[in-house]
Amino acid sequence: MSQHSAENPVKIAIIGAGAVSHYHHVPGINIDPRATLVAACDTSTELLEQRKKDWGVAKTTTSVEEICTDPEVDAVIIATPNFTHREISLLASQNGKHVMAEKPLGLNAGEVREMYHSARDNKVVHMTAFTYRFAPSMRYLRSLLKSGQLGEPRHFRSQRFLDWPETSWGWRQYKDKAGAGDLFDMTIHRIDFARDLLGPIKSVCGAVAQFTKRDVTADGKPCPPSEVDDWSSLIGEFECGAVGVWEGTTLAKGYHRNGFGHEWAEINGSEGSAVYQLHEPNTILLGKTGDDLHPVTVPEEFLTPEGSPRTTDMGEAATIFRYDLIWEFVSAICEGREAVPSYYEGLMAQIVADSVLESHEKRAWVDIPNEPV
Ligand SMILES: NC(=O)c1ccc[n+]([C@@H]2O[C@H](COP(=O)([O-])OP(=O)(O)OC[C@H]3O[C@@H](n4cnc5c(N)ncnc54)[C@H](O)[C@@H]3O)[C@@H](O)[C@H]2O)c1
Repeated sequence: MSQHSAENPVKIAIIGAGAVSHYHHVPGINIDPRATLVAACDTSTELLEQRKKDWGVAKTTTSVEEICTDPEVDAVIIATPNFTHREISLLASQNGKHVMAEKPLGLNAGEVREMYHSARDNKVVHMTAFTYRFAPSMRYLRSLLKSGQLGEPRHFRSQRFLDWPETSWGWRQYKDKAGAGDLFDMTIHRIDFARDLLGPIKSVCGAVAQFTKRDVTADGKPCPPSEVDDWSSLIGEFECGAVGVWEGTTLAKGYHRNGFGHEWAEINGSEGSAVYQLHEPNTILLGKTGDDLHPVTVPEEFLTPEGSPRTTDMGEAATIFRYDLIWEFVSAICEGREAVPSYYEGLMAQIVADSVLESHEKRAWVDIPNEPV
């Protein structure tokens, strides 16, 4: 058990002070009395100046090494572009820092395995930022499934449809920086929560496609064209006998939904169906045989994590559950236990996502190998 508490909070440094840190992680730290933001690191000094004002963070640096060797830092959040996660994570865990890293953990399973082994062997808490596991309706759906109320699970279905502009995605559209497009950015979350609900995936058949060049930036400047998928899909078989279908796209016109897009994930079990939707995360759709699916309010106990100071009125429902990642990371550090989802889960999702690319290339099903914990 660690010594951390509100009197001696976990000292966290953010590495990568961009969008996701600003919208998810810093608000999460700010509401957790057991955590404090002590430093921010980014390659952009201009952004760091801005973050001093936005976040009130005293220490800023462009040196990842300085953060990872700083005795005043207990834990780091890695929220940089995908191609930098491996090196930063290895440095942090080798220096005894607890690590929460953004998804995808790396550019491929080989990188992620190294990150996982280093964190595991250096006995630090390691966590993958798989955000949607934390949505209240997803947590409730999981409980209904695990308690047998949906019967034997048969089908899993996931749709993530975004209506994004067709301009450049910046670093996200180059293979050496992102690994893949929609598959690693969006579908990988859905691979993760499907595994969380139904257990290991045995075999997949996948496909990706690219429809847009994205050779112009949002402010009209030409840039090298995109190299990655903007549509990704897979069908899969789970070890438990269920089957799954996933589809993700960033080109679904008319699916803007206040910027949150369309997300639908469901389980059809032998006794009933249950549906999670991102834009209404405090409601679930339920139906038994002969019913129509109907909305049911998520019970209180699933709206926020136990003990968390987060309340449901802190902002937009589809945004504020994202603060719960920090609650889990800090809880794991304080309680001296593994974080959920750990790097191992990040590795398993990466192996499946890599297999989707392999399947597409080979035009064949790919079996998912077992991976030692
Ligand atoms: N879990 C989620 O729901 C979610 C949502 C958005 C983004 N993400 C992930 O978070 C990561 C960051 O995404 P973002 O949207 O915040 O990107 P971003 O481009 O807005 O921010 C990345 C920041 O990292 C900085 N940076 C780049 N290289 C660096 C280095 N070597 N050291 C320190 N700083 C460096 C950049 O200057 C930039 O400020 C990605 O891996 C992305 O996939 C996850």
